Amino acid sequence: MAVPDGAVRVALLGCGVVGTEVARLLLTQGDDLAARVGARLELVGIAVRDASVPRDPVVDPALLTTDAEDLVTRADVVVEVMGGIEPARGLLLRAIASGAAVVTANKALLGADGPTLYAAADAAGVDVYFEAAVAGAIPLVRPVRESLAGDRVTRVLGIVNGTTNYVLDQMTTTGLDLDQAVKQAQELGYAEANPTADVEGYDAAAKAAILASLAFHTRVAVDDVHREGILAVTAEDVAWAQRTGHVIKLLAIAELARPAAADEGTAEGRGGEDAGRRGVVVRVHPALVPLDHPLAGVHGAFNAVFVEAESAGELMFYGRGAGGAPTASAVLGDVVTVARHRVTGGKGPVESSYAELPVHGVGEARTRYQVLLRVEDRPGVLAQVAQAFAARGVSIEAVRQGVAAAGDDGAQADILVVTHQARDAALSATVADIAGLPVVRSVMSVLRVEGA
Ligand code: NDP
Ligand code: HSE
Repeated sequence: MAVPDGAVRVALLGCGVVGTEVARLLLTQGDDLAARVGARLELVGIAVRDASVPRDPVVDPALLTTDAEDLVTRADVVVEVMGGIEPARGLLLRAIASGAAVVTANKALLGADGPTLYAAADAAGVDVYFEAAVAGAIPLVRPVRESLAGDRVTRVLGIVNGTTNYVLDQMTTTGLDLDQAVKQAQELGYAEANPTADVEGYDAAAKAAILASLAFHTRVAVDDVHREGILAVTAEDVAWAQRTGHVIKLLAIAELARPAAADEGTAEGRGGEDAGRRGVVVRVHPALVPLDHPLAGVHGAFNAVFVEAESAGELMFYGRGAGGAPTASAVLGDVVTVARHRVTGGKGPVESSYAELPVHGVGEARTRYQVLLRVEDRPGVLAQVAQAFAARGVSIEAVRQGVAAAGDDGAQADILVVTHQARDAALSATVADIAGLPVVRSVMSVLRVEGA
């Protein structure tokens, strides 16, 4: 497509943590970017909510506008770094309808309704790029979407939220409490405008949905993702993790899984539409990671993701997962690519969802549990607990008992049980059974163990 006056017009939606850094790169690296694109990138406007707010000196106030609707029709490339579902979705659809390529860092939008954007862009023959939407600066979307397009991905596992990794890391290394650590993450520009999206796992779930969709050529929406945030992680959990040679990380895991019915040869398994057919399970939750696993060494707001593929084997991606400048790097990489397409022709990949694998619930995932129980300290108690695991077909890997101070009801002990791998449904049912045993005073902690 011809570039009208020799420059590619770029409109920026948002001038916050990320937008400011995108503007800085566009305005200060102009010559290099022009050489890489084959034409100059001209920043034609920056849409904000309030144009009277003082901005970084790099931003020319004359570029600011509150009329985003108009701005998106005056650009060849629209970069959306405002966040949220609306008006971002409407503006991007308007941009696409006007013939602009779009670049977005908005995982909340893509996780909730990416296919609407992809379909509109496909119909209009324009690009949608979104490297910054998953894991900040780390090139991950492109490797999964393009470099591994000839392989079969079997699993994606990693840390994709910088804020929660920062918080858990601070809780582990400095003893800071959750609220203090979240405040620090906000000050450092890692957290979302509303940090609930981070600590309750919505941000990671949206990223997991995006990665799963790309990896398994199947539409996975954020609502398909099993999600547990970090609000229930206590200082005691952190201490127990350290005692048992682990750290707690918020993990996003997307993997192929066969439904139990297929394994067990039940009527559903034999006759159901998905009989014997592998599906996808996508989950986000805190997990214990052994200290010798590479993910245990991922500190601060860094992210790290393992991708396993049949031919490639295991790949690891590591880097800054949040923050203005790192995220702007990923955004600019996309801007250069789509602008180059404007200048020299060509177009990036469209949505690939042909596989249409079934998306199963977390119950079909295979994992291990570490369960901490406070129990009556008398003969036969351990046997009852062990029997509860056996009754659900869950094999125990290790048991450790510690003395607990006597309670009002007499002597008590703490028992830590680590299981072998089993279906999540069987593990969670076992925990419910155990909680109902009269000899069990409380289930103090239940955490999955991954990466062992
Ligand atoms: P900020 O809250 O810092 O900035 C948002 C910007 O968008 C502000 O300039 C705001 O205007 C503008 N904006 C918001 N709503 C509107 C609206 N309705 N109309 C016009 N302008 C609007 O967010 P971030 O920069 O942190 O994040 C932006 C996007 O990037 C989000 O999708 C986020 O998930 C994603 N992202 C963020 C990362 C990070 O580390 N921060 C990392 C990776 C992705 P005003 O300034 O006037 O309020
Ligand atoms: N709030 C997000 C995080 C920003 O902490 O990872 C990057 O997507």
